[in-house]
Amino acid sequence: MSRKLYIHTFGCQMNEYDSSRMADLLNESHGYRRTDDVEDADMVLLNTCSVREKAQEKVFSTLGRWRRIKQRRGNLVIGVGGCVASQEGRMIMERAPYVDMVFGPQTLHRLPQMLDEVLEEHRACVDVSFPEIEKFDNLPPPRVDGVKAFVSIMEGCSKYCSFCVVPYTRGTEFSRPFDDVIEEVVGLAEQGVREINLLGQNVNGYRGPTHDGRVVDFAELLHYVAAVDGIDRLRYTTSHPIDFTDALVDAYAAIPELVSHLHLPVQSGSDRILALMKRGYTAEEYVHWIERVRAHRPGISFSSDFIVGFPGESDEDFEATMNLIERVGYDHSFSFLYSPRPGTPAEQLPDDVGVETKKARLARLQSTILDSANRISASMVGNVEKVLVEGPSRKDPAQQSGRTENNRVVNFDGDAGLVGQFVDILITEALPNSLRGRLVGDIPATPRQIANFSPTLKFA
Ligand code: SAM
Ligand code: F3S
Repeated sequence: MSRKLYIHTFGCQMNEYDSSRMADLLNESHGYRRTDDVEDADMVLLNTCSVREKAQEKVFSTLGRWRRIKQRRGNLVIGVGGCVASQEGRMIMERAPYVDMVFGPQTLHRLPQMLDEVLEEHRACVDVSFPEIEKFDNLPPPRVDGVKAFVSIMEGCSKYCSFCVVPYTRGTEFSRPFDDVIEEVVGLAEQGVREINLLGQNVNGYRGPTHDGRVVDFAELLHYVAAVDGIDRLRYTTSHPIDFTDALVDAYAAIPELVSHLHLPVQSGSDRILALMKRGYTAEEYVHWIERVRAHRPGISFSSDFIVGFPGESDEDFEATMNLIERVGYDHSFSFLYSPRPGTPAEQLPDDVGVETKKARLARLQSTILDSANRISASMVGNVEKVLVEGPSRKDPAQQSGRTENNRVVNFDGDAGLVGQFVDILITEALPNSLRGRLVGDIPATPRQIANFSPTLKFA
């Protein structure tokens, strides 16, 4: 009988991606199969996040629960990975001695060897080093069971925003070789994937070396990924405004596969706060990038990350953020209360905005963006949207569900044969968390067959 693996993931999409790669790896090396039931597992892994304090606090409470399971079933293997593991290393085992393995985002590929040591030599293992690209060279090709997939194109971050732990926990930026990225995308397309989301902390800082000594930047990479037969929709997460090159702006005119939605984190609309955050741009420069992208892709929608209550944020600073929000008219946001992080420069600044003020500002910001998102949803009624069909609707399995370019869920009557296809849907109703629609036009033929694509040929 195969052994079972349970993974609990905190944090960002990078962590979700890493968790699925851990599952692929342990399946290949030791035959583990993923389970959703922690009580049923032979191994439990916690993929942690330390971007904000709350996520970090949850680590030891989760481990405490797992300890009780291990007390009942002595052979349960417990591993801790991710950014908290990277930051705390061996300290995790001092606080939780029942943990068997501690590994960082850059050493998860060494899990099979660590597991052998635990199982055969009964030795606990800690490896939170930064062996850079070695990680990708040692992971099996990803397995997918849907029409969408993430592809990690770079790791780490070298921007050193004053509030952020990522450069310290994930290391500085390094890009995966271009040929490896393309090979992975081709492999995914061959498994039926139609939509690719390129992942990294700052994907537009991508500088991928090629087999013939060139360096491909992010805008060029987008052209190549979009050219892979079968891949008809392209997203990326996340990009930093400072690396938003002219070539990337031009890509919005030149690459139809690139969705009409851009997540471009601004964090604040106040130049004073942006300088304290060490973001490297002003609010006006940010709006200028937005306007240029909009000129190349009319109708595009935008989302952003915001930090509310950064040290010294005055009412005036916050109003500047609200002003920028009105100017851009965001479709969505990830907004957070500032959380001082150990070892970051901002930790030295007095965390002087009162909790109630922080919460009131966050509530106002979120409700303004929600109103704007609802207006955008309402304005989509009557439009014909291109929807990638993902599978049966969660609420009504007789219906199909898919997503628009701006990531809205759309439910409509249709049969299961449409899964994996792009269909035209007339939007008939906007609900708070989804849209309803009706299939119009011709049903597309089966997805295009994959041509014999060779990244090498492209450079010949
Ligand atoms: N690469 C992205 C960018 O260009 O800004 C950010 C990636 S970061 C891991 C994800 C988000 O977490 C940030 O955009 C920021 O809003 C939030 N974040 C990071 N550090 C934070 C802190 N100390 N307190 C609150 N939010 C934080
Ligand atoms: Fe963090 Fe700034 Fe990089 S938010 S991930 S240091 S761009």
